[in-house]
Amino acid sequence: MKIKSVVFDAYGTLFDVNSAAEKCKDKIGDKWEGFANYWRTTQLEYTWLRSLMKRHKDFWHITEDSLDKSMKVFGINMDMKNDLLNLYKVLSPYPEVKNVLENLKKKNFKLAILSNGTPALLDQLVQSNNLKDLFDDLFSIESVKVYKPDSKVYDLPLKKYKIKPQEVTFLSANTWDVSGSGNYGYNSVWVNRNNAIFDNLDFKPKNEINNLTQLLDLI
Ligand code: LAC
Repeated sequence: MKIKSVVFDAYGTLFDVNSAAEKCKDKIGDKWEGFANYWRTTQLEYTWLRSLMKRHKDFWHITEDSLDKSMKVFGINMDMKNDLLNLYKVLSPYPEVKNVLENLKKKNFKLAILSNGTPALLDQLVQSNNLKDLFDDLFSIESVKVYKPDSKVYDLPLKKYKIKPQEVTFLSANTWDVSGSGNYGYNSVWVNRNNAIFDNLDFKPKNEINNLTQLLDLI
């Protein structure tokens, strides 16, 4: 089936989630990377747990809750909390992102982000990085109030564009998001930036790339 839309996960796929802690590495010290990974893992666990508990809280507040726990676990001075949170609002994109989006735009695909992030967070991320004009839509899970990988989330682009799952190419660096969207029926491509191991969750992506530029050879 012909691909009509290219949909991107945001955090970890277009934007470097470790860049907030990295920008504070002089103050945090050598443990900055372990801390950044722990923060990210805790944040994701909270999304899954809240969806299972049916106690939704938006991604910004989950980001803050998970940061609070992570700072305590790593013994980081709480004075840095606001700095880290503010940096999370303006995460850096990976270097190839803008060029890849411009190329895809010329090919007339519907281009969108589909993310756990709130509409305000996603808007600020694309605005602060001058990417806003390249996207047709920023789909946030806030419209369904349940986190990925619930199928209601993956329904969102299909409803808007009136297309089938097989007409979507979905890019994520998060293995669990590739598994979730692939089981749903998207053509999911794994952006494996760090030579990681894939999940055992009933879906293996047909395509795996190391950076987004390689997508241009696939579609
Ligand atoms: C997102 C997270 C899962 O952007 O990376 O949805």
